[in-house]
Amino acid sequence: VAETSAQPVEEPPSLAAPTDADPDVVVLGAGTIGLSIAWKAASAGMRVTVIDPEPGKGASWAAAGMLAPVGEVHYGEESLLALNMSSARMWPRFTNELERAAGRTIGYRRTGTLVTALDQGDRAWLEQLFEFQRSLGLDVDWLSGRRVREMEPGVTPGVSAGMFAAGDHQVDNRLLVGALLEAATSAGCTILRERATSVELEGGRVKGVRVETGDALSTLSVVLATGCWSADMQGVPREALPPVRPVKGQILRLRSKDPEGFLRRPVRGIVNGAAVYLVPRADGEVVVGSTVEEMGFDTSVTAGAVYALLRDAHRVVPGSRELELSEAIARLRPGSPDNAPVIGAARAEGAEGLVVATGHYRNGILLTPVTAETVCAILTGADPPAEVAPFTPARFQVPSWSR
Ligand code: GLY
Repeated sequence: VAETSAQPVEEPPSLAAPTDADPDVVVLGAGTIGLSIAWKAASAGMRVTVIDPEPGKGASWAAAGMLAPVGEVHYGEESLLALNMSSARMWPRFTNELERAAGRTIGYRRTGTLVTALDQGDRAWLEQLFEFQRSLGLDVDWLSGRRVREMEPGVTPGVSAGMFAAGDHQVDNRLLVGALLEAATSAGCTILRERATSVELEGGRVKGVRVETGDALSTLSVVLATGCWSADMQGVPREALPPVRPVKGQILRLRSKDPEGFLRRPVRGIVNGAAVYLVPRADGEVVVGSTVEEMGFDTSVTAGAVYALLRDAHRVVPGSRELELSEAIARLRPGSPDNAPVIGAARAEGAEGLVVATGHYRNGILLTPVTAETVCAILTGADPPAEVAPFTPARFQVPSWSR
């Protein structure tokens, strides 16, 4: 009989109480949400550490950078519209502050966005959307097909009608990520390129964070901004975690040799009921997106998605077929049960000190300024903007009697 000797399980050393040398706040996740919170908190005088194995390389890297509260408005989402509009209004100041802090530009372009419809079915859909937008008092203008082509000669002669959303702008998401990393670092943040494995709690409140190497950081405040992975953080009671899921987006990057001559502004198209967008950057890059797929944590790029995106982009802007195809990637958006963000102190008992900032779904870049301001207000004991109140984590809290 083989002799077996049970190896004693090594307990990780328990965390010491935080001292003045420890971070005031640890931000988990270095997407645009986590980084902007870190930058703002550090600028407000807090000691901040951000933990992410690959800063900026998640959903923030794939995004198109459209700041489109009007073009992306959906029926029944009026309170989300108010939040989106509020964040859109913050973008000019946010850009100025960030560009000054980082010493570089982020490609914020105030061009407005064209929304186009091809066949009569698409036009009927766009007319309904237009009526809905007008009923909400949004700044949109209806355009004939001819007017669409005057504004954007690259749009197909077959366009039946369009709409101009004068306030829907864009920012270059990758320049944004780089600038946030620079600004956060300059403001004194420590960026730890590690994977956080658990949040340590004691007596119902946050005590620190443990990382994959086994090392631990003591802190009394943790911001959970790990996108669609936020639902799985170990150590936190289930009811304090945001119920987010991954929503796959496949997106392409094309390249034009003539940036001025291709498109002047983002163009969205409804093609046989499917939505496609083309977002031209000043340097000639054209972002074409995107799929919205419930595929779990799969990030494969599929031939079918690339084909469909190129086909629909070509139908709206025929010249797109001449451009170089420089990249096809897939990333995961964090979607909550109502597809709206989850921002605020984790209300559940037993997680004092935990703040949640995730669930931004298709609006992560747009909602970056208002999320940073809100979380900073929570961390510093100030009043968060009122329009964020409906997006409290408490709306998903499972009542204790039903557990
Ligand atoms: N907001 C664009 C997208 O999620 O595809």
